[in-house]
Amino acid sequence: MLNQMRVKLALYFMCLVLVLHLVGATAFYVLFSASLVRSNEALLSDLFSEIRPSIKVENGTPTLADWAKRANEANSMVTASIQVFDRDKKLLEKYGDDGIERLGKGRMEERDQTGSTKVRSFNEKIKSEGKDCGYLQVQVSTKQNDQASELAIYATIVAMPFLGALVAVAGYFFSGLALRPAEQAMQLTRRFVADAGHELNTPIAIIEASLEALTEILRENNVKEDLTEIIAKASARMSELASDLIFLARVENPISHYVIAPVRIKKLLEDVCEDFTTLAKNRNINFKLGSISELEVMGNLEFLRRMVTNLASNALRYTDEGGTIVIWSEVEGRNLAIKVSDTGIGIPPESIDHVFDRFYRVDKARARAAGGAGLGLSIVKAVVESHKGNITVTSELGRGSTFKVTIPLA
Ligand SMILES: Nc1ncnc2c1ncn2[C@@H]1O[C@H](COP(=O)(O)OP(=O)(O)OP(=O)(O)O)[C@@H](O)[C@H]1O
Ligand SMILES: [Mg+2]
Repeated sequence: MLNQMRVKLALYFMCLVLVLHLVGATAFYVLFSASLVRSNEALLSDLFSEIRPSIKVENGTPTLADWAKRANEANSMVTASIQVFDRDKKLLEKYGDDGIERLGKGRMEERDQTGSTKVRSFNEKIKSEGKDCGYLQVQVSTKQNDQASELAIYATIVAMPFLGALVAVAGYFFSGLALRPAEQAMQLTRRFVADAGHELNTPIAIIEASLEALTEILRENNVKEDLTEIIAKASARMSELASDLIFLARVENPISHYVIAPVRIKKLLEDVCEDFTTLAKNRNINFKLGSISELEVMGNLEFLRRMVTNLASNALRYTDEGGTIVIWSEVEGRNLAIKVSDTGIGIPPESIDHVFDRFYRVDKARARAAGGAGLGLSIVKAVVESHKGNITVTSELGRGSTFKVTIPLA
C-alpha cells in the first residue's frame, strides 16, 4: 500500500514538474522570439539608415550603383537584400542576399520549388525635387532566428521525457524518505498484532490443559458442571482470534516472503466446496459450484485458500436455512474473477464500506452470537491486496450478497 502511495506521489510530482516545465518553456519561447524580432528590426533600421544617403537619382530614376561599386571595392559583406524599385514598383536593381522581390513591410514569406524564403522587410519612398521617383527596400533573412526558435521548441519537447523520468525517480526516492515514519508505524502495528496473537497462545494453551484436567476430576467425582463447556467455547474462540491475528500479520507482510506459484483456482474452489457441503447440508443450505475457469493465477495457495474459505464461511454464517450459496469464477480481461454469492441477510448500504475494517461487525450482538470477531474480511482484503487484486461487494438487505475478488491471471 505504501509503495502504491509512493508511486502515486512520484506521478503527481512528475505531472506538476512537467506542467511547470511547459509553462516556463512557453514563457521563455515568447520572450525569446520577441527579443529576436527586436534585434532583427534594429539591424534592419541600422542598415536602412546607412544605405539611404547613398542613393542617387539620375534622370528621375533612383540608383545605388555608386554605393555598390564602393562596397565592392571595400570588399564589405552585405548580409541583407537591398532592392531599388521605380515609382511603378518595378524592380530596378538588387544587391546582397536573395530576398523577396516585391515591396512589403514587416514579416514576408514566399514559397517556390526550392523552398521558402522568410524575411523582415522595410522600404521607403525616394523623392527627388519633391517628386516620387521610386523606393528603396532592405530585407534581412529571418532564417537563423526561425531556426533558433525551432531549436528552442525541440529542446523543450526532447527534454520532457528525460525530465519526467528524472523527476519520477527523484519523486519516488524522496516520497520513500517522507513515508518512512508511516512505514515504520505500520510495521510496528503489524508486529504488535503478531506479538499479541503469539502471546495469547500461551495462556490459551494453559486454560485448555487445565480445563481438560478439571473436566477429568469432575467426571471422576461424578459432578456435572455446564461451566466447563462455556469455558471451552470461550477458549476456542480466543484461540481462533489469536490464530486470525497471527495470520493477518503474516499476510500483511510483503508477499515476496512467501511461496508464489501458479494456483489452479478450479481445484481450490472444489476443495473448499467439499469442506463446506456437509456443514451447509446440516443447515439445509444449498452450497454449490457454478462454472469455473480452468486458468491459473500467480499466488500463495495457503493465502488464497484462506481467502475463499473466509468468504464461504461468511456466506454460510449469514444465510438462513433454505438459502443458496454459489461460488463461481470467470475470466475478466487480464484477471480471474472469483465470486461468492449468497441469498442471505445482506449488508446495509451504510456498512458496506466498513465490512473490511478490522473487528467491524454489522450487527455486533448477532455477529457475536455467531462467534465472529470481525477479522475474516480484513484477512480476505489483505490477501487480495498482497496479490495485487481487487475486491468489491454488492448486497441487498434481506436478499443476499455477492463478494467479487479479481486477481491478475498467471
Ligand atoms: N455474506 C455476508 N452476508 C451478510 N453480512 C456479511 C457477509 N459477510 C460479512 N458480513 C458482515 O460483515 C461483517 C464482517 O465480516 P468478517 O468476516 O470480517 O467478520 P465476522 O464474520 O463477523 O467474524 P470472523 O470472520 O472474524 O469470524 C460481519 O460481521 C457481517 O456483519
Ligand atoms: Mg467472517
